[in-house]
Amino acid sequence: MFLACGTSSNSDDTSSDGGAGTDRELPRDAAGSCTPFQPRICAQGQTCCFSDLSGTCGEPSACTSPLQFECAGPKDCNAGEVCCAGFVFPAGFDASELGGFSADASGVLPDGSFGEDGVAATTVCAASCASPRVSLCKTSADCTGEATCRALPEGGSSAIVAMIAEAFTRHKVRVAVIEASGLGKGWVDGDLGHGPAYAFTTPDGHNLEIYYETNWYAPPPELKPALKNQAQRYPSRGANVRRLDHLNLLTSDVAVLRHFMEDVLGLRTTEMILLDNGREAGAWVTTTNKTYDVAFTEDHYRAHGRFHHVTYAVDSREDVLRSADIFLENGIHIETGPHKHAVQQTFFLYVYEPGGNRVEVACPGARLMLAPDWQPVVWTEAERKLGQAWGLKTVESFHTYGTPPVKDGR
Ligand SMILES: [Fe+2]
Repeated sequence: MFLACGTSSNSDDTSSDGGAGTDRELPRDAAGSCTPFQPRICAQGQTCCFSDLSGTCGEPSACTSPLQFECAGPKDCNAGEVCCAGFVFPAGFDASELGGFSADASGVLPDGSFGEDGVAATTVCAASCASPRVSLCKTSADCTGEATCRALPEGGSSAIVAMIAEAFTRHKVRVAVIEASGLGKGWVDGDLGHGPAYAFTTPDGHNLEIYYETNWYAPPPELKPALKNQAQRYPSRGANVRRLDHLNLLTSDVAVLRHFMEDVLGLRTTEMILLDNGREAGAWVTTTNKTYDVAFTEDHYRAHGRFHHVTYAVDSREDVLRSADIFLENGIHIETGPHKHAVQQTFFLYVYEPGGNRVEVACPGARLMLAPDWQPVVWTEAERKLGQAWGLKTVESFHTYGTPPVKDGR
């Protein structure tokens, strides 16, 4: 385990850690490849310059990557030098998990070109470390003078690097895959609640974005919950919706959109509808262990890129029934429900918001998909003709209406 000195360390760091130039027996191949997780495999004076999941040893001045590692401790540096580390954590990154190595280690690095994607991690050998860089040490004895030392998580700097690198590459890889699909539109500035987003369309023309940096909600005093493990206090108002549950789209070609969701966005299909003629009529996909985050069904008019509904979850089935009474009392037209879907078994109720978009108030229950080899549940045409779970026939408007409307205003 490495320790981070709270203030800059002096040259004594090296002597207490075996001295410079020791422990350099790790081999490196002829191409000079390296891994940032074992930075000592580069020759002294070189840095492991990180590019996605691989690194190349080279002169520090030639590396412009936001992830580069010259040392993991003072023994990787020349006598009289210490190993200085700087980290930039992306917004939303929970640095509290890093064993106290957070506040004075995060922030903007002196190298302003780093951190474009919100992450950067560099280690360099230097005579001393200028804040916000900190000196990496192996034991508390390496910290001298007034310096205080704090333990890094097990695995030392490499553990932090691994966490940052994983987040960094996962984000970049996903954007690269979308770009390769030819449907990317480019980066857009952040919006309420999140940082920069990458915009793209589905093959059917739906406008979507992905983002990495999240601004976590902080409730104002009047909405602060009694228990800290919920976002805000119980609303006690209207239908008392608690969270967004899923998005439902219409598409001209379910199979094409399903493959895009799986192959480009990395979602998994949990349930789907397959007609007798072999055409897919609907699919439910997820990016989490919740059984669905997005659903899409065939557009009755074969129109492109339309919206079907957005769903807000409530705590219980009883809350769905209560919301039905509240909609009734307020003159809100209930399109269908309350009832239970056969697919995914969500307890549902559908209304329209004033702008004409369909909104579902639902209790999806606690259906979780935990098996990594989950196989999609495939519903047949005959099974779907049986109606919803308890026999309720689906109203025609549910099959035909979407937004924006097409033909006859539907
Ligand atoms: Fe739904």
